[in-house]
Amino acid sequence: MENQDKWYTDAADYWDKVEATDDGVLGGFGNLSFFDSRDSKKFIKEFVEGKYGANNHLISPPQFETHLACDCGAGIGRVSKVFLLDIFEKVDLVEQNPKFLEKAKNSYMGSLENRVNSYICEGLQTFTPEPKKYDVIWCQWVLGHLKNYDLIQFFERCKKGLKDKGMIFVKENNCINEFDVDDVDSSMTRSDSLFKEIFQKSGLELVKEATQKNFPSSLYPVKMYALKPIKKE
Ligand SMILES: C[S@@+](CC[C@H](N)C(=O)[O-])C[C@H]1O[C@@H](n2cnc3c(N)ncnc32)[C@H](O)[C@@H]1O
Repeated sequence: MENQDKWYTDAADYWDKVEATDDGVLGGFGNLSFFDSRDSKKFIKEFVEGKYGANNHLISPPQFETHLACDCGAGIGRVSKVFLLDIFEKVDLVEQNPKFLEKAKNSYMGSLENRVNSYICEGLQTFTPEPKKYDVIWCQWVLGHLKNYDLIQFFERCKKGLKDKGMIFVKENNCINEFDVDDVDSSMTRSDSLFKEIFQKSGLELVKEATQKNFPSSLYPVKMYALKPIKKE
């Protein structure tokens, strides 16, 4: 049973013991949420508003509409609350831990709760978006929980879940080694080159990348990737 193996059950057990707060989902670094959301907004801006050059000349138009985003590995909904709902009308939260989703629904999202379209309690290793549903699928600090093979399959399913001009965004830690395994939470940190190999195998074109600023140097560097499905001729 590929998706019921110890790799996934260990991660689920780990997160089940973590408190449903910013500090909980950010491993004690809840204070970094501000810098995190600030850089995410900066990163996505050119795709939302279009890119402008000298003399306010439009270099590239807005890439997608802003009706519905999917927040993958959403936890308590932190990314949606501090970032995605500043841009998108509604979000779906996909998260395998029911306790986190309950917290999102019952208190954490506050007045933004009515802009959560669906709470989807499922692991990303099986999550299959409905066809052509999302303008953007945002995956942050969760993809290390998927094995390489499952990550490629996940991206393949995500491509089908995007609207015609939709995009996938990834924001994840990077390591120097090809990958570092963490037995405590059953995850792996990938190198930049391993991510790029996986994007390529998934039929995704990398159109922009950037490194998160203002994080402590003791932490892994965090990179953001903007991805478009490669259209078959
Ligand atoms: C480091 S937290 C990040 C949460 C959120 N993305 C944020 O930045 O605030 C990782 C989250 O991924 C969830 N998670 C772990 N494995 C998962 C899986 N296989 N599928 C979906 N979610 C998973 C955990 O329950 C936890 O909420």
